[in-house]
Amino acid sequence: MGQERPIATLTEDEAARELERLARQIAQADQAYHQQDAPEISDAEYDALKRRNAEIEARFPALKRADSPSARIGASPAEGFGKIRHAVRMLSLSNAFDPDEVREFDARIRKYLGIGSDTALTYTAEPKIDGVSLSLRYEGGALIHAATRGDGETGEDVTANARTIAQIPQRLPGAPDLLEVRGEVYMRLEDFQALNARAAETGGRTFANPRNAAAGALRQLDPEITRARPLSYFAYGWGALSEPLADTQMGSIERLAALGFCTNPLTRICDGVEALLAHYAEIEMQRPSLGYDIDGVVYKVNDLALQHRLGFRSTTPRWAIAHKFAAETAWTRLEAIDIQVGRTGALSPVARLKPINVGGVLVSNATLHNEDYILGRDSRGEPIRDGRDIRVGDWVQVYRAGDVIPKIADVDPARRPSDSVPYVFPQTCPQCGSPAVREPGDSVRRCTGGLICPAQAVERLKHFVSRNAFDIEGLGAKQIEAFYHDDQLPIRSPADIFTLQARDAANLTRLRNRPGWGETSARNLFRAIDERRQIPLHRVIFALGIRHVGETAATLLAQHFGSWEGFESCLTGPETEAMAELTNINGVGPVMAQSLIDAFANEAERGAIDALVAHLDIQDAEAVHVENSAITGLTLVFTGTLTRMTRAEAKARAEALGARVAGSVSAKTDILVAGEGAGSKATKAEALGVRVIDEDAWLTLIGA
Ligand code: IVH
Repeated sequence: MGQERPIATLTEDEAARELERLARQIAQADQAYHQQDAPEISDAEYDALKRRNAEIEARFPALKRADSPSARIGASPAEGFGKIRHAVRMLSLSNAFDPDEVREFDARIRKYLGIGSDTALTYTAEPKIDGVSLSLRYEGGALIHAATRGDGETGEDVTANARTIAQIPQRLPGAPDLLEVRGEVYMRLEDFQALNARAAETGGRTFANPRNAAAGALRQLDPEITRARPLSYFAYGWGALSEPLADTQMGSIERLAALGFCTNPLTRICDGVEALLAHYAEIEMQRPSLGYDIDGVVYKVNDLALQHRLGFRSTTPRWAIAHKFAAETAWTRLEAIDIQVGRTGALSPVARLKPINVGGVLVSNATLHNEDYILGRDSRGEPIRDGRDIRVGDWVQVYRAGDVIPKIADVDPARRPSDSVPYVFPQTCPQCGSPAVREPGDSVRRCTGGLICPAQAVERLKHFVSRNAFDIEGLGAKQIEAFYHDDQLPIRSPADIFTLQARDAANLTRLRNRPGWGETSARNLFRAIDERRQIPLHRVIFALGIRHVGETAATLLAQHFGSWEGFESCLTGPETEAMAELTNINGVGPVMAQSLIDAFANEAERGAIDALVAHLDIQDAEAVHVENSAITGLTLVFTGTLTRMTRAEAKARAEALGARVAGSVSAKTDILVAGEGAGSKATKAEALGVRVIDEDAWLTLIGA
C-alpha cells in the first residue's frame, strides 16, 4: 500500500488522485470479497483504506467522488459466508436476575411436571461464557462443519476458521456416528490483552472486549487471520445425535470431556434451588480470577427425560435458565435528553452522556424509559430513587447488563449544578407536531400522528427490513431513511420496496446514476429485494410491526395458523371468534390479541398490508419443529382432570406433535381427551360425533 503522506501536506491534485486510487482499490477488494469469496487483503488493510479515504474526504469535501466508497452501500463481512441450516435449532436462554426469579423457575418446572416441593429435583450449574456460540457437526468422528448461531435456524459456515482453533478436535474417535456439539468460542483475557497491544502498536483495529474480539476473529474470511488470533472453546451442549450421550446433562458433559472437549471445570450437580444459589455465589467469587469473561450462571435440569418432557417455548428451553450477574455501573454527566419517536409512536427519552467506559464498553447513550422515570416515580406513582428527578447537567449512574441498552440507575443530587431546572417532557410529537397523549394506565406518551408521523413511518420501515424481519441486504436503516425522504423514488410503505425496480425503470434519473449508487449496487439491491418476495410466514407477521407482537409471538402465530390465509381470515372474521382463537394460543394474551384485531380493522393499516401481500409469496409455516405423529394436523380439546401429566404439559405435547389445541368443542374438533370428571364438553362432543378418548388412550396416542 506504500507509505501514506500526512493528509495536511497533500495538495488538492494529489488528494484527488489518491481518492481515485482508493475508490478503485476498495471496489476491487469488495469485488474479491463479496463476489469471489477470495479476499485479497486483510480486514485491517481494508479498514485502513476506508479510513484513509474518509480522512481525505473530510479534509477535501469538494473532492468527494460520485463513486466514493464511503457512500457505497457495503455489505458487512459476515455476508461473505455460506449459510448452514441447523439440524436442531440453536436456542437462547431466558434470564433470571435475582434469587426469587430462580425460585420461580424451579416452581414453574415443578408445576409443569406435577412434581411436589417435597420431591428432589436435580440441576446442573455452570458458568455462562461470554463468547460466541458455535455448533460443530461430526459425522463418523470427523468434523464436517461449524456454524454460528445466526438467527437460530440458519447460521454462518465458519468451518475453515473453526479448524484453526486448537481446542476444537478435528477427529473424535469413539464418538456417535452423528454428533453435533454446541459450545462457546471465547478469548482468554490475557490473549485478548496481548492481541490488543499488538494491534495498537501496528495501528490495527483494537476491540472493546474479549467477546467482540472472539466474534471478529471467528468471522474472518481468511482463516489464517483466525489462526493468528488465539481462541478457546468450551462445550456445554449438543444438537443432533445418532444416539444419546448419557441419560443426564452431567453425564453428557462428562462424555464430551472424555471425547476430548474442554468442558467447564465449574460445572456442578446441585440438588435444589438453594444449592444452585450457593454455587452461583461460589462462581461469582471466582469470577475475577477465572481468566475469561462470564456473565452469569446457567442452570439446567439434569435428568434428560425430564428435559424432554419440559421441551421448549418458541425460542428458549423450559428446562434451563441463565442467572445473570449484577450489571456493571459507572458515573458520568448527562449532557442532554433527546426524545425519540418509535414505530408505535412511543416518545422515548434518551440520555446523551459524556462517553464513559462501563465494563469494557464505551457508553454515550442510555434509555431514560419514560417521563415518570425522569421524575423519579414508577408506573404506580410510587417514588423511585427516593423521588429524585433527573436533570440535564446531572451526574448519573449508568449501568449495563449483557447486550441490553444501558440504563440510568441513579443521580447524585450533591453534584447538581445550582442553575439546573427540572426536565419538561414534551406534550407534542417533536417529529410531526401531533399531540402526544398518555392513555390512563399507560406509562408511555404516544404521538397520535399514526402513519402521517414521519418518525413512526420510518421506524416501521426500518423494523420491516430488520434482520429478523425481511432482512434485505443493502437496505438497512440508513438507506430506508434516505429513500423515505426521496421525492423521485420514495419508499414510504412496505409495498413500495417491491415496486422500487419498476418505478426506477420509469425514472429519468436512474438509481444507478445517483450519488452513492452504481450499476452494481443498484442491481444487487433489486436482486436482494426479489429474493425476499418468497418469505416464511413468521417473518411477515413479525415484520408488520404490530404492537405487542414480537418475534416469539410471530412464530407462535405462524405455527398456529400455518398459512397467511389462515391468519388473515381469523383476523378479518368476527371479532369475538378471532379473540377466542387468538387467546387460546399458548403465549398470546388478550392485549396482544386486541392489538392484532385493531391493526387489521384499521383501514390504512389494512390497505398497507394488502398492498404488501400482493407482492409476496408467503411460505406456510414449516412443520420443522414438529414431529410427525398420529395427531399432526388435528384439533384437540382437553377436558376433565388428567392424572399423569398437567394440562400445560398435555397442551405443549400436543402442539409439539403438530396438533392444535382448542378451548371449546365444535364441529372442527377432531379429538376430545376426557380426563376424570369430564362434563358438558364430553356430552357435546358425543352429540357432534367427535371422537372422545380417555387419558390412557391419549398417552398411547402420543407414545408416552
Ligand atoms: S446452554 C438451549 N450453557 O448463552 C440452550 N449456553 O443466552 C442452549 N452460553 O446462545 C444454551 N455459556 O451462546 C448454555 N454454559 C452455557 C453457556 C451458554 C454461554 C450462551 C450460548 C447461548 C446464550 C444464551
